[in-house]
Amino acid sequence: MSITINKNYYYINSKELSLIIEEREGDLLLRHLGRKITNYHGSNAINERDHAFSGQLNPDVRTYSYDTQRQVLGLHGLGDFRQPSLKIQHGVSDVTRFEFLKAEVVKGISLESKLPYPHSLEKAETLIFTLVDKVADLELKLYYTVVEDNNTIVTYSEVINNSNQAVVIHRALSAMADVPTRDYDVVTLQGAYAREKTVRRQRVEQGIFKVASNRGASGHAQTPALILCDHEASEGAGEALAFQLMYSGNFQTFVQKSQINEVRVAIGIEDENFTWELASNESFETPVALITYSHQGLTGVSQESQAFVTDYIIPKQFAHEERPILLNNWEATYFDFEKEKLLELAEDAKQVGVELFVLDDGWFGNRFDDNRALGDWFVNEEKLGGPLQDLIEKVHAKGLKFGLWFEPEMISVDSDLYRTHPDWAIQVPNYGHTYSRNQLVLNLANPDVVTYLKDVLDKILTDNAIDYVKWDYNRNMTNIGNGANYLESQMQSHQYMLGLYDLVEFLTSKHENILFESCSGGGGRNDLGMMRYFPQVWASDNTDAIARLPIQYGSSYLYPTISMGAHVSAVPNHQMERTTPLETRGDVAMMGNLGYELDLTSLTQEEKDIIAGQIAHYKDIRPVVQFGQQYRLINPEAGSNEAAVQFNYENKVLATYVRVLSTVETVETTLKLKNLDQDANYMLQGTDQVYSGAELMYAGITVVLPQGDFLSKQFYFVKVD
Ligand code: DGJ
Repeated sequence: MSITINKNYYYINSKELSLIIEEREGDLLLRHLGRKITNYHGSNAINERDHAFSGQLNPDVRTYSYDTQRQVLGLHGLGDFRQPSLKIQHGVSDVTRFEFLKAEVVKGISLESKLPYPHSLEKAETLIFTLVDKVADLELKLYYTVVEDNNTIVTYSEVINNSNQAVVIHRALSAMADVPTRDYDVVTLQGAYAREKTVRRQRVEQGIFKVASNRGASGHAQTPALILCDHEASEGAGEALAFQLMYSGNFQTFVQKSQINEVRVAIGIEDENFTWELASNESFETPVALITYSHQGLTGVSQESQAFVTDYIIPKQFAHEERPILLNNWEATYFDFEKEKLLELAEDAKQVGVELFVLDDGWFGNRFDDNRALGDWFVNEEKLGGPLQDLIEKVHAKGLKFGLWFEPEMISVDSDLYRTHPDWAIQVPNYGHTYSRNQLVLNLANPDVVTYLKDVLDKILTDNAIDYVKWDYNRNMTNIGNGANYLESQMQSHQYMLGLYDLVEFLTSKHENILFESCSGGGGRNDLGMMRYFPQVWASDNTDAIARLPIQYGSSYLYPTISMGAHVSAVPNHQMERTTPLETRGDVAMMGNLGYELDLTSLTQEEKDIIAGQIAHYKDIRPVVQFGQQYRLINPEAGSNEAAVQFNYENKVLATYVRVLSTVETVETTLKLKNLDQDANYMLQGTDQVYSGAELMYAGITVVLPQGDFLSKQFYFVKVD
């Protein structure tokens, strides 16, 4: 049993994780969140001192204050001076006191949500707490779902308005936990456009450390997640808890260390652009949050999260399927192509072994540059030399799959769609527009817009034999104010997300064999909300192999490799102007879902032969990379001159080493491989050298590279008898 109840104690257990909550006189107190405890006696210390300046609700018990207790719910206005997790305005105030009413355990996940939530949870168990605020006549339900094969708790909450008047939610976070007081570090994935998922690790100090997005998307510069780990935690040892949000819009996550060193962690919707009017008899659900635990350090928590995302979030039909090696025409042609060029590219792609040809931006309407035509989703037959289906048939005839780019959520002012429906753009009356890439965002909070997009996109996907869709999103939201009044406009950002999820749920379930890849100028919306519908993400517009090392490294903290597109592009690289050997570009892209994004027709035969060799090799190692357990061996972040990653899958092991700059004195590195069978023998492919597992783990392999910048080497071992 995953969930057990013993009197007023609630035990939420998975493989190696326990969350223990005590119900005490109506309050829910967090007694433990960490490594599994099956024989808990409730002796865990409760804060029983009279702390000055903390509010007490009972004058006879001066030792009990919301400010000093560890909780799973942060109420506003009743003496807890830390950040609240909930703030609801009713009548004249925004004070609420939710008290325990009942708890029940149900099978599966008790959710019929319009927001994304994990699938395949039939065998899971869910604990539902119901709390009530008798003054405001509000109900609050807290949900905790666990599976037995992963150390992840799925949690969210629901506010139900039983009163006969509307209330206004100002904050409703998805998960909160006052974790045991310790010396913690907080790890977040930050960065910028073309520098996504940079790992930031810092000590948790008194005060608030918050990462948030108010962009209407999770954004390039932050990921809706944080990892709280022991200050001493390393890759392989120490405790770590990851908090993640399955949501692609505005979010916040924070860790707050109070005046008495209590540590609160929370995650949910960012409230700068959010309030929610909840009518009488209606309910509001928060997005789903995940809490993942490991006592085996950062690698442990990464592997747990990667496994959960693969098994329960990525659409089932793609989660365990090898991903096609693609050629994308964007950096090969940008907008400058016509049918013949595309077919030449496709022919060369076929020759080198590519499996999927992707036609990127520029195939529709009057889209000859990025200033126009977004919204005009009709094929430019002049440019494509005929109907889209003719082109697709020619590509299919070569034995390649066919993929197409869309940016459905956008509208250009210079478009037929805007000329017909200027009011469909997100805008504030009388303030003009704020442009970004000369485009505006469609108001997906408006059901008419969602219906229009469903129809137009469904028609293209139905009329044409499309195998893959790249779904782009190239600006963030501004000028939010389409509501009839202020409150309605404050609801718009979240309503947009509900409209977006409705749209993608409709399209991906109707066209369930199409592989969707999400993109937002690269990784501007690389989050679990999108991953629930789109099994792949274009991790960055930065295709420079060296710049990509930290991006891929950061992604691996939470997301499985199989979710990450990685392309070999031309040199000098279009973003960095750097020249990197083709071998190294291949080795780096082979640490993700390999693809190519360059003009194959302009390469020499020798270069094409190298690419053909890479593709043939990748077809061999593909299951190792896409399904294997990943180990980060060397951190490529700022200041590092090297990177190394290992994948273990069945009887195969792949380690890739990259050196950035050449140094005279030190050109040798020892890689100690992880988690091998120490008594088994492993043969280095391409040689007849055999190593024992113990040798590879404890003595390591010495990487010897000649002088020269940007070099790399792959070590591919297969276990032998
Ligand atoms: C931004 C994407 O990240 C690129 O890969 C490409 O698809 C362009 N948009 C097309 O406009």
